[in-house]
Amino acid sequence: MKLRESGMPDEAYWETLFNVDLILDRLGIDGRLRDVVELGCGYGTFSLPVARRVTGSLRTFDIEPGMAERTRQRAAVAGIVNLQGVVRDVFAAGFGLRDASHDACLLFNLLHGEDPVRVLTEAARVVRPGGMIHVIHWRHDPTTPRGPALAIRPRPDQIRLWAETTGLLATSEATLDLPPWHYGVRLLRRPNPA
Ligand SMILES: C[S@@+](CC[C@H](N)C(=O)[O-])C[C@H]1O[C@@H](n2cnc3c(N)ncnc32)[C@H](O)[C@@H]1O
Repeated sequence: MKLRESGMPDEAYWETLFNVDLILDRLGIDGRLRDVVELGCGYGTFSLPVARRVTGSLRTFDIEPGMAERTRQRAAVAGIVNLQGVVRDVFAAGFGLRDASHDACLLFNLLHGEDPVRVLTEAARVVRPGGMIHVIHWRHDPTTPRGPALAIRPRPDQIRLWAETTGLLATSEATLDLPPWHYGVRLLRRPNPA
């Protein structure tokens, strides 16, 4: 199932809405990370820069074949070989990856969808204890130029509550300011409960 309000405007406009390097720097996405997984590549706005930064591979998934194809095509043109763009309904079928197999999972502009606890639980499953789930989302502010309806747009504390509900994630890190329009929340993967 395609998550609600997860359609995209055109690529050139979408990519004016982020300072990608600032966002990745503030989240700490860099060469300390090996393998990373992303839900919803879209145009690859973040996928390509993340693949360039990590030492392993970026596996990125999208339900829309055109989005996965666009991301793969951009990676090929850029000579990026450590990015796999996969067509998959992750909400329905999960990532199809082994437990604890990745250092980090990216959930960017997505947690306004249906059943965010389910999405966070699946993300936590594939991240190793000590790894991170990185969430970014639109500020809860009616002046943002895009973003889902405010009624379903989560605030940082809502994301922390959902994360606590999984029983797998620690939520003590401060909210990150990701100007001009976003915020970030980093969720630490705890060891599995005994
Ligand atoms: C709002 S866009 C964000 C794209 C990217 N994360 C970014 O921030 O540039 C959400 C993306 O998630 C994809 N998506 C929606 N539901 C999905 C699902 N069930 N499984 C995989 N991808 C999904 C959409 O097709 C879309 O490309």
